[in-house]
Amino acid sequence: MSIKEWLKYYAFNYLNTNESRYIYDLELIISSVLKIKRENILILENKIINLKNFILLDKILFFLKKGVPLPYLVKNVEFYSLKFKLNNKVFIPRSDTEVLVDFVINKLKNNVVYNIMDLGTGIGSIAISLAKNLPKSNILGIDFNNESIKFANINSKILNVKNVCFINKNWFNYKLNYKFDIIISNPPYISEYEFEYINKNKKIYEPKESLVSKYNGVYDIFYIINKFNKFLKKNGFMLIEHGYLQGKIVRKIFKYNNFTEINTFNDLNKNNRFTYAKK
Ligand SMILES: C[S@@+](CC[C@H](N)C(=O)[O-])C[C@H]1O[C@@H](n2cnc3c(N)ncnc32)[C@H](O)[C@@H]1O
Repeated sequence: MSIKEWLKYYAFNYLNTNESRYIYDLELIISSVLKIKRENILILENKIINLKNFILLDKILFFLKKGVPLPYLVKNVEFYSLKFKLNNKVFIPRSDTEVLVDFVINKLKNNVVYNIMDLGTGIGSIAISLAKNLPKSNILGIDFNNESIKFANINSKILNVKNVCFINKNWFNYKLNYKFDIIISNPPYISEYEFEYINKNKKIYEPKESLVSKYNGVYDIFYIINKFNKFLKKNGFMLIEHGYLQGKIVRKIFKYNNFTEINTFNDLNKNNRFTYAKK
């Protein structure tokens, strides 16, 4: 079977769908299994898929049909136009989070040295994107998931960034003796109830501890603002990603901790996505 036949008929038949939104996913699968660039698929569409790859593609289609997220199947994900490696033991970066990276890059001067901390760095998507675009700055990413830190290190090597460092720590018992200009975090912010509800309708494959936080989803946000406040320099700022209904409570937590210029911003879908606050 040729690539063209697999893409046009076989895969759609297997998935029992004709939804065009699958075209992109299928192209990514082909490009990852056959190790060809996505933009070259058209030129190579008459290439015959060998049996070994055909069996591998079938296996991927089986899991895709079951609802396993595509990045876990192709073992990489795109974030801020960069390709990050991952496996199924880590959180998958979302494009919604790119607005936080944009915000920081637009706010800072790229020829000044800033010390930035990324709490709950995952596979390093925020930290590495910032490091690439702010070459004079130093970025520290921490995460308690050692698999995440393993991939953050792999990604920084592949993407050739030197101004970033990752450590395997839990923010509930992390003590520092220096201060940062910026603290950024996309912490877990889904309530236990929400998690169970979503999981019942559509199985969630990502690690629960990367998604769920106590007290209706705000415990980790409260802890970060309250405890990491003292690791922020005067006039420094914090940026916290949160759920679209959590803007008000996050602003209150910042206010309670004497932050100023508190403001909530939207993502590209016009949903509240993150809150900025200056010390
Ligand atoms: C929502 S994910 C965000 C990952 C990444 N920053 C991103 O935006 O794609 C939250 C991350 O926080 C980490 N995390 C959760 N609780 C933590 C804790 N107590 N200490 C350190 N990291 C934690 C999880 O392992 C996970 O990687």
